[in-house]
Amino acid sequence: MSTPRSFPADRPRRLRANPGVRRLVAETEVRPRHLVLPVFVAEGLDAPRPISSMPGVVQHTRESVRKAAAEAAAAGVGGIMLFGVPARHDAVGSGAVDPGGILNVALGDVRAEVGDALPVMADTCLDEFTDHGHCGVLDADGNVDNDATLPIYGEMAVAQARAGAHVVAPSGMMDGQVGVIRAALDEAGFRDTAILAYSAKYASAFYGPFREAVDSQLQGDRRTYQQDPANGREAAREVALDLDEGADIVMVKPAMGYLDVLRRVADAADVPVAAYQVSGEYAMISAAVERGWLDRERTILESLTGIRRAGADIVLTYWATEAAAWLDR
Ligand code: PBG
Repeated sequence: MSTPRSFPADRPRRLRANPGVRRLVAETEVRPRHLVLPVFVAEGLDAPRPISSMPGVVQHTRESVRKAAAEAAAAGVGGIMLFGVPARHDAVGSGAVDPGGILNVALGDVRAEVGDALPVMADTCLDEFTDHGHCGVLDADGNVDNDATLPIYGEMAVAQARAGAHVVAPSGMMDGQVGVIRAALDEAGFRDTAILAYSAKYASAFYGPFREAVDSQLQGDRRTYQQDPANGREAAREVALDLDEGADIVMVKPAMGYLDVLRRVADAADVPVAAYQVSGEYAMISAAVERGWLDRERTILESLTGIRRAGADIVLTYWATEAAAWLDR
């Protein structure tokens, strides 16, 4: 008697039948080296200060950020990205270019701690340092002045490279920023300092908790320079421009709401592609876990797997060190 037509000839379940076969055929892997840990370092803090909308994340002291870097390196994490929280802000973000500014001194501290074992990356943007909270300087009408901001980014990147950053990461979405930074680094002799460009960075509500993390007093919004969430094709253009200007790594941000953009960029770019699982993504999962609505470890690992599957070689995530420990088991 022949098999009735109602039984399936194709049985994908065979390759899901047990952990061994599932492991054998898994297409996507998340390893500790794929993860980059973003950290905040605040000026003049006596002790690490919790960030309420990001439970488990703190503003570090100069001491505690060294420790966090050492722990990340020991866990096999792929890199660390530093953000500075200065005690004083001004209209032009002077603390960003000052070798004694908090971000630059912390870059030096962290580099001394980890050497070349862990790539040290620096956020190259003015918003943490300006009193109006924008990523650039303002013109007489209060608009962000693209071309007046560019030389400051160049100066900031050089200060960061001099302080010890292996990688600078322009995140301000000014047109031409990558080219100006590349030229400034080369001119100052930092030919080997790499640029991780926030190429496709959207004007996202998911950066909300970051504002608390860096004590930002943003006036208005960033829609004249960050991308409209409605636009996917535009991301390809931004990436092409950044590659032309000398970007070594390109990034899509945020991650989970922009996986289609990430796939598009990964298909087009011939450099490593990063994605940033931002503060709001962290807060959203943390809040649901806190209520017992989601399983913490499974949800976090699934989110990272999805971001990798969509095309990210590198994932920035506030869970980097913790997830690395799970992945090593
Ligand atoms: C700009 C910058 C921001 C983030 C990283 N770099 C804030 C913004 O663009 O508004 C957000 C990161 C996050 O939300 O986790 N320096």
